Amino acid sequence: TTVYVPGDSAARAVGADAVVVALESEAVLRGLDLRIVRNGSRGLHWLEPLVEVSTPSGRVAYGPVTATDVAGLLDAGMLDGATHPLGHGPTDSLDWLARQQRVTFARVGVVDPLSASDYEAHGGLAGLRAALAMAPSDVVAAVTDSGLRGRGGAGFPAGIKWRTVADARSTVKFVVANADEGDSGTFADRMLMEGDPFTLIEGMAIAAYAVGAGEGFVYIRSEYPDAVRVMRRAIEAATDAGWLGADVLGSGFSFDLQVRVGAGAYICGEETAMLDSIEGKRGMVRAKPPLPALSGLFGRPTVINNVLTLATVPMVLAQGAGAYASLGIGRSRGTQVFQLAGNVAQGGIVETAFGLSLRDLVEGYGGGTASGRAVKAVQVGGPLGAYVPASGLDVAMGYEELAATGAMLGHGGVVVFDDTADMGQQARFAMEFCAEESCGKCTPCRVGAVRGVEVIDRILVGPPESRRDELAVLEDLCELMADGSLCAMGGLTPNPVRSVIRHFPAELGLEPLVEA
Ligand code: NAI
Ligand code: SF4
Repeated sequence: TTVYVPGDSAARAVGADAVVVALESEAVLRGLDLRIVRNGSRGLHWLEPLVEVSTPSGRVAYGPVTATDVAGLLDAGMLDGATHPLGHGPTDSLDWLARQQRVTFARVGVVDPLSASDYEAHGGLAGLRAALAMAPSDVVAAVTDSGLRGRGGAGFPAGIKWRTVADARSTVKFVVANADEGDSGTFADRMLMEGDPFTLIEGMAIAAYAVGAGEGFVYIRSEYPDAVRVMRRAIEAATDAGWLGADVLGSGFSFDLQVRVGAGAYICGEETAMLDSIEGKRGMVRAKPPLPALSGLFGRPTVINNVLTLATVPMVLAQGAGAYASLGIGRSRGTQVFQLAGNVAQGGIVETAFGLSLRDLVEGYGGGTASGRAVKAVQVGGPLGAYVPASGLDVAMGYEELAATGAMLGHGGVVVFDDTADMGQQARFAMEFCAEESCGKCTPCRVGAVRGVEVIDRILVGPPESRRDELAVLEDLCELMADGSLCAMGGLTPNPVRSVIRHFPAELGLEPLVEA
């Protein structure tokens, strides 16, 4: 019998390794013939470790399983898919999964992450094969036609970025996957790399073929040791299988890939600081232009895409640009991998077509807060994203739709706060985070964030009669940071601050000054 116990770090953090040990020792005691696969996580984090058993009628899920549950589960007939208080029936019928449309995450949690045969058996390499049979410019056109936009947060059309690199004249070009997933409440890049690393490799190979690059880097944050290990092993396996290297799938096209590990700086997720870091320098933001697409890694034309963008490309090529473009709303085409976290009953991965409401995400999928209290605010798009108040939850999840309300989609992180959250402190935290993580290159961010913490402190604890003046200073500072910062770090920090001023003025002691 095959039993799946996720090797994903979220599952390991709540005891998945101990479950494996217990299963192995019970198998010896009971003389069972068990094959244990360390799959990725299905993304139902409140049920981790989610153990699945392969039965003739499909996979059956149990969770959350602890090591001490294992003997009882086996006694109850888990290996035959028997019912049990921890049982949830067939995995594919779980409402949470059945309602999703998994494209980028189609294989995550399903396959053995490092099995090349599993990968091919589940549709792997179809995209790369399709691409290699096309002219490179047609591959770029397909990505453009699919409407795929950069999933790192900015949402720049991937095909247009690739076209810029493809058209750049250089004998040396690079492809870099940005896996420095620094936003609080985001984990999709990590889960993809741990659960289906070959998809990222395949997407990077397609990008390299499309633009004429021969070498690629996956830049992974140091906080992701499991992802680093899995990606390195996957690159080795892909090279051994001839999917990478001098003659990719016998096409004559050559592409080599390696992993680079960051050193714990949020700013190294900014694309130009990341390039500095890969080049062995301290990660500092570079002025743009020149765009990395024209002068990137070691001064060469470079495709830099987020993990999710690259990992979506194989599906786009395999299923056709039209199929992907048919999903979504407005200019947000395809699916988005939302990451549900914070004070939420059911957190994890929700991949659906763009267009569902934030309310459906938080209340439908998330089941409301974990504390059972009312939702007060939801921060969408990481620490630089706005706080959406409970009254704004009906916004449709799309780039332009969120932007129209002053919020942003960012990398798809959705962090829920209940009514005990102190929004004045959250505004302060935004400035504090920026002060902490600023690379220091430009004054509006380096100095502005420090002044921002000070002025918010004065508003929060200073005399009420000076609040009007302090608010004017804070608003002025926000304007300066937004308009004058060199990169998104300083430029977007005013977002959460302004959203607190606008939606929660009372919590800054500003109720009479700002109309809610
Ligand atoms: P940006 O708008 O400056 O650029 C987006 C991308 O398009 C870049 O790769 C840029 O080089 C490229 N680009 C722009 N014009 C181009 C052209 N004409 N041809 C080819 N390429 C072109 O945004 P930036 O600063 O790269 O990213 C900001 C976003 O990052 C924010 O919106 C935020 O959501 C997100 N973010 C994500 C984090 C994460 O952990 N994933 C953390 C912090 C911020
Ligand atoms: Fe560096 Fe901040 Fe300026 Fe960005 S905005 S370049 S992080 S100082």
